[in-house]
Amino acid sequence: MGPTGIGFREEYQRSLSDPEGFWLGAAQAVEWTAPPARAFDGSLPPAGRWFPDGELNTCFNALDRHVAAGHGDRTALIHDSAMTGVQRTYTYRELTDQVARFAGVLRAQGVGRGDRVLIYLPMIPEAAIAMLAAARLGAIHSVVFGGFAASELATRLSDAAPKVVVTTSGGLEPNRAIEYLPTVHEALAKAGMPELPVITKHRDGFAGLPEGRQLNTVDWDTALADAEPAACVPVKAGDPLYILYTSGTTGTPKGVVRDNGGHAVVLLWSMANLYDIHTGDVWWTASDVGWVVGHSYIVYGPLLAGATTLMYEGKPVGTPDAGAFWRVIEQHKVKALFTAPTALRAIRKVDPEAELLKKHDVGHLQTLFTAGERLDVDTYHWAGRVLGVPVVDHWWQTETGWAIVGNPRGLDPLPIKAGSPTLPMPGYDLRIVDGLGAEVAAGEEGNIVLRLPLPPGTLPTLWQDDQRFKDSYLSAFPGFYATGDSGYVDDDGYVFVMGRTDDVINVAGHRLSTGAIEQVVGTHAAVAECAVLGVADALKGQKAVGYVVLKAGASIAPEVLEKELVALVRREIGPVADFKTAVVVEALPKTRSGKILRKTMRQIADGDDYVVPSTIEDRSVIDSLIPVLTENLP
Ligand code: COA
Ligand code: AMP
Repeated sequence: MGPTGIGFREEYQRSLSDPEGFWLGAAQAVEWTAPPARAFDGSLPPAGRWFPDGELNTCFNALDRHVAAGHGDRTALIHDSAMTGVQRTYTYRELTDQVARFAGVLRAQGVGRGDRVLIYLPMIPEAAIAMLAAARLGAIHSVVFGGFAASELATRLSDAAPKVVVTTSGGLEPNRAIEYLPTVHEALAKAGMPELPVITKHRDGFAGLPEGRQLNTVDWDTALADAEPAACVPVKAGDPLYILYTSGTTGTPKGVVRDNGGHAVVLLWSMANLYDIHTGDVWWTASDVGWVVGHSYIVYGPLLAGATTLMYEGKPVGTPDAGAFWRVIEQHKVKALFTAPTALRAIRKVDPEAELLKKHDVGHLQTLFTAGERLDVDTYHWAGRVLGVPVVDHWWQTETGWAIVGNPRGLDPLPIKAGSPTLPMPGYDLRIVDGLGAEVAAGEEGNIVLRLPLPPGTLPTLWQDDQRFKDSYLSAFPGFYATGDSGYVDDDGYVFVMGRTDDVINVAGHRLSTGAIEQVVGTHAAVAECAVLGVADALKGQKAVGYVVLKAGASIAPEVLEKELVALVRREIGPVADFKTAVVVEALPKTRSGKILRKTMRQIADGDDYVVPSTIEDRSVIDSLIPVLTENLP
């Protein structure tokens, strides 16, 4: 008999009809220093808190607990660097020891409970060690993705106000070495914190700071050698574990807060029930610790579950070839891989018939999970055909920290429908509503909203900004959390996620704000105004394209301007924005109230159906733009 999902549908109903019972039951998988008597207190601002009287330490649950249970010799972490060719494994005992000692290093720098630790590291084990060490002290980490430039780092430094920065001399991209220290130096100067201690993991082959520039550097290795191990500090379940900044619709990133208790509970639930990963299994999330996927499923989830987590420093293609993923799966006997569809499209583009797969025995692989962007039907079929395992999409966001919609492979798995991440996960009461908040019929597209309260593990607020939290997520549809995504639910309850309703775009699984890019483009001396759109891209899902209107009298060749704008965005936001195209246009289409018709422009650029709003100021502007917008359509 094939999968029915009956067991899951019952579990799901129970999570909504008896949330106290459901989540207190799930909470038993955590080792608490004070077990919670209540699951949820809705009276705590701004939108309630999970496990209000619970106390725990997340690092203890991820590490010490497994050692104490006699699993100290199991492999906790495998670091496989396709960039350097070096591999390293840590047992649970070794990782616990490293983390306890690095926590001692942080403590020696004055870090204690509630203090922030900013981590700017590439995919090296020290990133996980630093995160867990902060958690051990009850401190709050904030990891910044290595592909962001100094200004973005500075914004995060200013908002999080950390006690220390943890970084390295450099990261490795296939085409170049990334010098981290000059960026950290510039960011600290911009944020007005030049004296902040910077704990630096030295890596060979990097130039470091140019002559004349200085940082208050603490050498990772030296400090660790002398460090006293630090014990785990119990914290309240509602205390923040980390802040992770993510793109919103404005240029200022949102500091998504994750708590300790709800996070541990749902990650444990999801490892077993959603991913079917248990103690001793080898689990690989091919993402980056700088993103939420990396937080939840490179670091915390697999370690909480006592599994082996694989940390891969490399790309799906070019390091050295499109067989890299298959090599890693074979070599480390990976049971399940979690990656972004764009990585699969990158492999397929180079090796359409997956010839390189024939060189590898990937027989241990049981499931391929994808998230970060919509799994397009074509890629779904291709991956399933070449790998011969279920390909399971699931949909979530930095804000939620774990899947909103998924297919519970550890329960009674549901039949997969191509194009759908399947059903809402426990605690998510998902509705589709129109612009006025009225529910729409099955099959009709609308805003995807979630009835409050959200389940454990989701954001309780934005860092020190309850008001922005309410304004951003709770005010559009009272009583509901607005996901910012649109989609529909079919007659079987399957959810189909179609795209964002705001100015957030998704480039190669990376979440970016077109508003932030516009802000940068708008600072160029020749630019009067601009619109940056996320336009469909066959490889990366979307790409950012700028349409700019020149200031009167500006005389700059379009190709020179494009070059300058590309360099400007790269310098101000970072290479991750992947901004490569800027087109000069005569005018931008606007409503009579002056709002640029970005959505209509995007629909035209994507070749979709569109209706020009009746509020348009001058219809001829859009007509003259059509040839420019559709230039690259097939
Ligand atoms: N540090 C510095 N620069 C970085 C970086 C990092 N950590 N990550 C990416 N960049 C740079 C890249 O080198 C590239 O620079 P370039 O313009 O000089 O070539 C630029 O940012 C854009 O990177 P990316 O969009 O990743 O493109 P790519 O061509 O290097 O790789 C893919 C394309 C599809 C192979 C790659 O994007 C990928 O593996 N994506 C999966 C994404 C993912 O895991 N997302 C997490 C959500 S689950
Ligand atoms: P991030 O916060 O970086 O994880 O990005 C979250 C956004 O990525 C979501 O709001 C969606 O727009 C998109 N996204 C993530 N996963 C999926 C998915 N499986 N299907 C469709 N969109 C997705």
